[in-house]
Amino acid sequence: MENYIIAILVIVLVGLFIKNILFAPLSTHDPLSNVQQTANAAKEDEPIVEGRFTPKSLYKFNGFDTENIYIAVKRNVYDVSKARQFYGPSGPYSNFAGHDASRGLAKNSFEMDVIRSYGEPIDDLADLTPEELESLNGWESTFKSKYPVVGVLVDE
Ligand code: HEM
Repeated sequence: MENYIIAILVIVLVGLFIKNILFAPLSTHDPLSNVQQTANAAKEDEPIVEGRFTPKSLYKFNGFDTENIYIAVKRNVYDVSKARQFYGPSGPYSNFAGHDASRGLAKNSFEMDVIRSYGEPIDDLADLTPEELESLNGWESTFKSKYPVVGVLVDE
C-alpha cells in the first residue's frame, strides 16, 4: 500500500516536472514576445517624417530627375516612389508627381490646370464642395494606407 502511494506521488511529480518543461516557455515567453511584436508594429506604422517641403522643393521630386517621387495630399507629403507606373514620367498620373495633388483628387481630375503649380502659394482648398472634400478624404485614406509620409508641405 505504501509503495502504491509512493508510486502515485512519483507519477504526479514527474507529470508536474514534464508539464513545466513543456509549458513554461509558452507562458513566460509568449506574452513578452507579443509585447515586443506590438511595439515593433507600432514603430513600423509610424510615419517617418523627413522634413518640410515648400511647393518648390517638392517639385524636385517629380520623378523626371529623381528616383523618388513625392506627392502632397492635404499638406502631408507621401513617398509614392513604389508606384512609378502611376506617377512616373510616363504614368497616367504623372501630373501629380512633385505637386500638391489635393485639388485634382478632390475634383477627380489630373489636368494640369486643376493642379496647383509649384510656383503658387499652397492651395487652401477653401472653395471645395462637400462632395469634393469627401472625394479628397477618400483619396487621402488610400494614400495613408499605401504610402509612407515623408514630411509636410509648408509655404516658403
Ligand atoms: C478614364 C478614367 C480612369 C480609369 C479607367 C482609371 C483607372 C485606374 C486604375 C486601373 C487604377 C489602378 C488601381 C490599382 O491597381 O490599384 C487607377 C488608380 C488611380 N487613379 Fe485612376 N482611372 C481613371 C481616371 C482617374 C482620374 C480622373 C483620376 C484623378 C483624380 C484618377 C486618379 C487615380 C489615382 C490617384 C489612382 C491611385 C494610384 C495609387 O494607388 O497610388 N484616375 N485608376
